[in-house]
Amino acid sequence: MADRADAHELRLDVALGPRSYAIQVVSGRPAHLGSFTRRALDATWAGKACRSALVITDQNLASLPHAANCEGALEHAGIACRRAVLAPGEATKNLGSASRLFDELVGMKADRHTAVIALGGGVIGDLAGFVAATYARGLPLLMVPTSLLAQVDSSVGGKVGINHPQAKNIIGAFHQPIGVWIDTDTLNTLPPRELRCGLAEVVKYGVILDAAFFDELEAASAAIIARQPEALRAIVARCCRLKAEVVTRDEREETGLRAVLNFGHTVGHAIEAVAGYNGHFQHGEAVAAGMVAECRLAQRLGWIDPALTERLILLLDRFGLPSSISGLDPAQLLEAMSRDKKNQRGKVRFVLPRCLGRVELTDAAGPEDVLHALNATGA
Ligand code: GLY
Repeated sequence: MADRADAHELRLDVALGPRSYAIQVVSGRPAHLGSFTRRALDATWAGKACRSALVITDQNLASLPHAANCEGALEHAGIACRRAVLAPGEATKNLGSASRLFDELVGMKADRHTAVIALGGGVIGDLAGFVAATYARGLPLLMVPTSLLAQVDSSVGGKVGINHPQAKNIIGAFHQPIGVWIDTDTLNTLPPRELRCGLAEVVKYGVILDAAFFDELEAASAAIIARQPEALRAIVARCCRLKAEVVTRDEREETGLRAVLNFGHTVGHAIEAVAGYNGHFQHGEAVAAGMVAECRLAQRLGWIDPALTERLILLLDRFGLPSSISGLDPAQLLEAMSRDKKNQRGKVRFVLPRCLGRVELTDAAGPEDVLHALNATGA
């Protein structure tokens, strides 16, 4: 994987053999999306003959210039666009929406050379990606993520899927995109709470893989909160590079390496489940508090010094993210963790830090350790 940079564009190549692709990070260059897409399509068998695309987006984005800019650039590159607009929010990520999108594809007589363009946040990327993975056994997929969370996490790595009423993300596939186009200018209109939620995942990369990046986040926090384009491009590209390195080495989450991306998520998912998916804790906020709880668990096991947890809390606080789970019942949280996807042989597994920049997947923590860590985090 290589980085190439000029002042305004950063490009990374994700090396996955025949499924390799480029991630381009720009600030405000919508017209370049057309040539980027054409090149990405031309590098694949199905994409070479692509002349049409279904642009899948949500109502919020459809009313902003992003959708029209994206379609204009694609049309200019010889790709006729049809647009499907969905309601924003997690509730859209279901089989009914997928079915509606299949109808759109049938309606436009889509074949294996029709591209799917996922223009939106994580919900749109996951749903559009699922449709692209399954229609005609796989269509070329271009990710155009517009939220920070999608830019630094869900648009890279090929995990696509929808929710079952009883289980999030349980129906899905691995389907790598042909390219990822990230324009950080889309973050200018992102509600502050959504920006903060994306920053939780950004901080996560520093803790799990890159201590120097954590230092840089501390130093650049004011510029990031002020949404300075250089600062945003730098953090988005750094996170994509870190994620791409993990995905390159464990594309299908089979060796335990990709699981490191789940730091903060074992407790985080439990927080979401116990607090209810009604907005009290959004995903990024639950991950932020979950990272703190999991650091306290690592402290309890004697893996890290309390100073690391204190540094993490300080940085989260600068980004306006929570580090406490007060008000939630520890027994309920523990019960929710017993259903975590990483569990093996009835044991809850956690990704815990050994030091800043290095984590390990472990089942060394027993229920008392977990309860201790949850209480120390305010539960
Ligand atoms: N978001 C975790 C992963 O892509 O593996």
